[in-house]
Amino acid sequence: MASAPRSAVHLFRAAAVFALLANIGGSIVAATHSGFECGNWPGCTADALLPGGVVNELLYRNPWIEMAHRTSAVLSGPTALASAIVGLRLRQAHPLVRVLPWFAVVGAFIAGFVGRGIVLGESYPTWVGALDLGAAQVTMASMVVAAIALERTPAHWAPTRLALYAWSALGSLFAMHLAGLWAAGPNSYTRVVSWPVWRILDADLHGSLAAQWLRFPLAALAAVLIVLAFRQARATGEASVTRVVALALMAVCLASGAIIAVSGTDALGVPFAVSSVCLLFTLLLIAGRASVHALPQDEVKSGPRMEAPAARAS
Ligand code: HEM
Repeated sequence: MASAPRSAVHLFRAAAVFALLANIGGSIVAATHSGFECGNWPGCTADALLPGGVVNELLYRNPWIEMAHRTSAVLSGPTALASAIVGLRLRQAHPLVRVLPWFAVVGAFIAGFVGRGIVLGESYPTWVGALDLGAAQVTMASMVVAAIALERTPAHWAPTRLALYAWSALGSLFAMHLAGLWAAGPNSYTRVVSWPVWRILDADLHGSLAAQWLRFPLAALAAVLIVLAFRQARATGEASVTRVVALALMAVCLASGAIIAVSGTDALGVPFAVSSVCLLFTLLLIAGRASVHALPQDEVKSGPRMEAPAARAS
């Protein structure tokens, strides 16, 4: 069984990158309150595709930020769909390659549909916001793991201790970010992908107190698991770069939260959100690579060559 066609690997990687950009862009839209500045779909206004007029503040209520998000995010759907179709034709690839991209397609559709509704002024109940954020993160997770499984064709699923720490950290962060939507009061930064800061705004008095509390033990658990993952990776020589990046990004998240809690500044909103999303992506790389491995050569049965879909027709 031969390795995967390069063209397919490039496609899967592109879909993973577009999903990452969509998550980063979306969290910047939320952090800068730019989601309601256009008010139209698909163009920014009824008679213009792009925003017009003067931009008051670069990182506050800026319609260009939302347009940039919807433009890059809209590509995460088609690239996931193309990956899903190509994956189906790679019959000898790992089942993750054939199944996960479909989760990304559904996730991108949900995030796009809710995002479009927000732009058009729809006000959704909190559970829809959680579905939206959850769908966006599942889209990113699905394409990252599917790309790793394809790159390592012929692959097999064998999570190491490092993978268990990284997946557990991801699970804690996923729950923490979703809890943020219930903890947040109206228009509060607390709903944005970030780490918990106690009552960042008085508005959070109107949020769920239980969710506010729940976020802290989840954050502490995630931090412990990330440190355990780092130590495990260092001990086994795995993830030499990503283990350091994950630890550094966690330090940025914790420092940003502490500075905001002490100073009340709103200048760190965007780097706080972006580093939180990039930490999720980095942990996905660590967890995926420590779970999906290339089959050892002596276990590879010499089957027919895996050719790109087009070649088979000839
Ligand atoms: C193409 C259509 C889309 C539009 C018009 C759109 C629009 C928006 C808007 C207006 C927000 C801000 C919501 C708020 O302030 O609470 C947002 C947030 C977000 N969007 Fe999108 N979006 C689209 C597609 C996507 C896709 C495909 C993804 C991911 C695959 C995505 C991921 C996100 C994320 C992660 C957030 C941040 C949520 C948070 O931090 O609470 N969006 N989007």
